[in-house]
Amino acid sequence: MSANRPAAVVVLAAGEGTRMKSKTPKVLHDISGRSLVGHVVTAAGDLSPEHLVVVVGHAREQVKAHLDTVYPGTRTAVQEEQKGTGHAVRIALESLDGTGQTLSGTVVVVCGDTPLLSGATLTALAATHAADGNAVTVLTAEVPDSTGYGRIVRDAATGAVTGIVEHKDASEAQRAIKEINSGVFAFDGQLLADALGKVRTDNSQGEEYLTDVLGILREAGHRVGASVAADHREILGINNRVQLAEARRLLNARLLEAAMLQGVTVVDPATTVVDATVTFERDAIVHPGTQLLGATHIAEDAEVGPNTRLKDTTVHSGARVDNSVADSAEIGPNAVVGPFAYLRPGTRLGLKSKIGAFVEVKNSTIGEGTKVPHLSYVGDATIGDFTNIGAASVFVNYDGEKKHHTTIGSHCRTGADNMLVAPVTIGDGAYTAAGSVITKDVPAGSLAVARGQQRNIEGWVARKRPGSAAAQAAQAAAAEGDRES
Ligand code: UD1
Ligand code: MG
Repeated sequence: MSANRPAAVVVLAAGEGTRMKSKTPKVLHDISGRSLVGHVVTAAGDLSPEHLVVVVGHAREQVKAHLDTVYPGTRTAVQEEQKGTGHAVRIALESLDGTGQTLSGTVVVVCGDTPLLSGATLTALAATHAADGNAVTVLTAEVPDSTGYGRIVRDAATGAVTGIVEHKDASEAQRAIKEINSGVFAFDGQLLADALGKVRTDNSQGEEYLTDVLGILREAGHRVGASVAADHREILGINNRVQLAEARRLLNARLLEAAMLQGVTVVDPATTVVDATVTFERDAIVHPGTQLLGATHIAEDAEVGPNTRLKDTTVHSGARVDNSVADSAEIGPNAVVGPFAYLRPGTRLGLKSKIGAFVEVKNSTIGEGTKVPHLSYVGDATIGDFTNIGAASVFVNYDGEKKHHTTIGSHCRTGADNMLVAPVTIGDGAYTAAGSVITKDVPAGSLAVARGQQRNIEGWVARKRPGSAAAQAAQAAAAEGDRES
């Protein structure tokens, strides 16, 4: 838990985000497996605040529903009309007042559209705020192009922050300032509440600016401080889809860097995509063109890729997944998958099992050392240990209305090109002949043959296809046979 635990974190997310040109509210757009607001809520969680309030307005039902499902316990406060960032924070504080809680501690304010902001930066801001005994501490950054941002105004002689002036209200000289307001602050809760009551709307946008609180507190003789972010890219706010892509690229690079420093080999970070929720163990290897999504876990010495997409999938130690797609699958230790396998939800592969080329598996448990090497569909099945499924086999699980289960024992050998028509059970150690359509249970240790008998009609080609190349070849073969005998 954070040493400087704030009383509350307020996340501002009521704006519409018109520049996204989207029917999805801006803060619900996804990068690296989380919504924009989800990244902010996650970073805020590192501070272990007593309360976390997200101010919602535009598309509030959708935003609230998202928070309720993905971040249960997150409180929301509704800002009916977007009358400015100061107004939004005022509404958040009023919603907390209603709980009878006192906000005597620190209140941290962040924007819902800054997904790169890290928990570490927030923690550092809270620490500076506490150590310096400030009434407010603003997170600032030096940016190459400060257009559009609020500028940090400092006293020429002392360097102390005197206030923030919004781009639209700034003079030419102030617009030249490269130090900007990130929109992230730590406040003394009580002083914030008092100052918000004094914020006016006589500015170019006719809004209650949260940024005006700095000047108000300073004039009342309180300490106003600033903490400069080490990396200005962390405070990148998303306004359009170009910035969305840029943020994803930066976050992806950051996530891969963390994985590499933790002992994961990422062969080509430029073509590897990883969600914030993916976890690794050391000595995992990720080959180029791989996407690891959702709750995917790659264990020690496992090797995934190239050109592989894994979602919510666990790859156990030493397993190998090549050129394959998996969703909600579990790949056992030292198992081998692909190239060109498709593992669908409910697939569980045992220790050292193998799913080979052009094989699809769904809702099935494959035992230790069992192999499905080529061109097959395995659906709704349980297969024991050390069994081999012949090439081009289909587990016929669907009768047009219901799905049925197939059970195959251990040490079985099913022939190539089998249709296993479920529900059906094959006992331990049983064999089936190539080309069989298995509709009845096969007892342990039996050989099942379920195919038409072969019939050879001699001389058919000569009679029915006289003069054809086939007939000539047959005639030559017969003559050859005569000479040899
Ligand atoms: C704001 C800051 C600016 C800073 C910039 C950083 C103010 C007055 N200005 O400007 O100094 O450099 O962020 O990105 O604070 N919001 C609400 N309700 C409102 C208005 C805004 O919830 O009534 C939310 C928005 O959804 C957004 C955040 O507050 O998440 C910031 O609002 P935005 O309109 O983007 O402010 P900027 O003009 O970017
Ligand atoms: Mg903004």
